[in-house]
Amino acid sequence: MSDSLTRRDFLGAASGLAAGAVLGPAITAKAAPAVHVRPAARNAAVASANGLRAVQKVGELLQQGVDTLDAAIEGVKIQELDPDDTSVGYGGLPNEHGVVQLDASCMHGPSRRAGAVGALEGIKTPSVVAKYVLLYTDHIMLVGEGAKRFALSYGFKEEDLLTDRARERWLHWRANRGPDDDWIDVPREEQMVVEERHGTINCNVVNANGDISSVTTTSGLAWKIPGRVGDSPLIGAGQYTDNDVGAAGSTGRGEANIKVCGAFLTVEFMRRGMSPTDAALETLRRVVATTEPRLKDEQGRPRFDLNFYAVNKRGEFGGAAIWSHRESDDPVERTIRQYAAFNGETAQLYDSAYLYERYPESGQ
Ligand code: GLY
Repeated sequence: MSDSLTRRDFLGAASGLAAGAVLGPAITAKAAPAVHVRPAARNAAVASANGLRAVQKVGELLQQGVDTLDAAIEGVKIQELDPDDTSVGYGGLPNEHGVVQLDASCMHGPSRRAGAVGALEGIKTPSVVAKYVLLYTDHIMLVGEGAKRFALSYGFKEEDLLTDRARERWLHWRANRGPDDDWIDVPREEQMVVEERHGTINCNVVNANGDISSVTTTSGLAWKIPGRVGDSPLIGAGQYTDNDVGAAGSTGRGEANIKVCGAFLTVEFMRRGMSPTDAALETLRRVVATTEPRLKDEQGRPRFDLNFYAVNKRGEFGGAAIWSHRESDDPVERTIRQYAAFNGETAQLYDSAYLYERYPESGQ
């Protein structure tokens, strides 16, 4: 991380002291519950399943002593720059107007700082812009035009993020939107089926010293209402790090996660002693409990999916989803209930824990 961290941390500490002097002793902060985890003895990283290359990269960088946030962002950048990943960065599926709007956020455990961008257009790597917000501003989140101008001021290049593949899928979606619009429907037998997908990459990293960081980046919900911001850029929802405990993050239906502050909640469950997997499952139970009836099936189960990934200070990691893993010929579908992790030695995919067995007739 840059020298500016040191400077800002100093300034932050100084202004905190000044506030304390004015307010006097009447306000006392309640200490967070004690944490019963030893620092990591190994490097580790956990990510959504599309992050297999990311966690491999993170593993290599941690071996070289690279900072956990820098390593996490170098990892997720692989997906942001990959035109074949239609859920993240360049090549991401656009909003209903055909414009790609990207969200990202990150946290750096050792400095206890955060940065985020929402509805950012024209910049391929929103995770890096989020890191610049963390590094160079006194703010946490920039959105829309302001976020773009901020990025351009640092030399980020403005580019058209809509690849031919994503444009074709958007055009097909628009054509088939409904019988009463002005677009002629495209028959399904022409193999122009359009699917709605959430897609995102989250990556949570701990090094052998027990320092932790997290990042989440996404193009959000395909065909979203312009300006819609999901969970990914929201600190505490899309990702969260507490350097004393661990980090967690999410992919899937952002609206369901935002209501429970799921990444924060998962870290809080780990603080109380739960394993990363159990913490992720407990958060998902909270999600189910807060789901509106219109989004549940007749057995009270959500009609959407949501995944959490978590790592603790010891380097233990896990992942959980609402629905179980399903075999499929579709590579995206196949990995959607898995997660990627670097376990200190190798990077590989693991099956996520889950709340519900996927039933065959489910459209999930
Ligand atoms: N979790 C990604 C989104 O809902 O935008």
